[in-house]
Amino acid sequence: MGAVTWHDHGMRNTPPVPVLPLVGLLFLALAAGLAVAQTGGSQTSTSRRTVWDGVYTEAQAARGTMAFGQSCAGCHALAAQGKAPLVGDAFWKSFAQKNVGELLEFVSTYMPNGKPGSLTEATYRDIVALMLKSNGFPAGAAELGPDTIVGVQIVPKDGSTELPANALARVVGCLTKNGADWVVTNATTPERAERAAAGGEDATRPLGSRKILLKFVVTKLDGLAGSRVVVNGLLIGEGGVDGINVTTVNRVAPKCP
Ligand code: HEC
Repeated sequence: MGAVTWHDHGMRNTPPVPVLPLVGLLFLALAAGLAVAQTGGSQTSTSRRTVWDGVYTEAQAARGTMAFGQSCAGCHALAAQGKAPLVGDAFWKSFAQKNVGELLEFVSTYMPNGKPGSLTEATYRDIVALMLKSNGFPAGAAELGPDTIVGVQIVPKDGSTELPANALARVVGCLTKNGADWVVTNATTPERAERAAAGGEDATRPLGSRKILLKFVVTKLDGLAGSRVVVNGLLIGEGGVDGINVTTVNRVAPKCP
């Protein structure tokens, strides 16, 4: 077990005995935190919550309307049309298959453009509540709070896990020549490119059963044929049904599948 290895490591480096249990606790807390973060982003978690579960209140969205008017409306439309819209296609393209915590993080880290982080965390949450309302997600009994926001998935009502067209995505699979075309076979479901896998996970994770056409390939790929690759690019069609407009192809393992 990793914990044992770690503990040995701690023993060698921290001689004072009373410190150890504390450090051990910290480690446990960290591990638990990680587990929570992982279930938060996982589609298989049984306790999965989504934006359809009523995760903010009407009162909160109403407060958000005030704040939005002051800090955001100068640059953004809260409608599908208009300047830099935050509703409809634009919203789905940027945030589908992410979670509300990530939306909040984006907004509070980068917005208002020019004055990032200038509002309180509570005000940012109110504005996010308003964004959810404006995108047609229902209000509920409890406010969007610092704890409840974690892991609320942004998915269409039918629960589809496909990314929308034009999303920046990544897939892992086997690089295969198919006539004049390059395709990735045994491909995983396209996922957000920001979800870059940590520490070589792509080399060993289970593959999928998809076949994805690589379009607009400008580099020679012959040297990578037959290997396990990760491809980054823009999805053509929902979920990449018509392929992926390639930005990079990288080998992650020599053999595939
Ligand atoms: C001075 C103009 C300005 C103000 C004020 C501003 N924004 Fe933005 N916002 C932008 C620009 C420009 C972008 C595009 C940045 C990019 O995506 O590269 C952007 C992007 C965004 C995005 C991502 C949109 C997408 O489709 O990817 C969100 C969400 C957002 N802003 C929310 C807000 C919120 C909420 C506020 C108020 C707290 C706010 N913005 C205030 C200019 C502004």
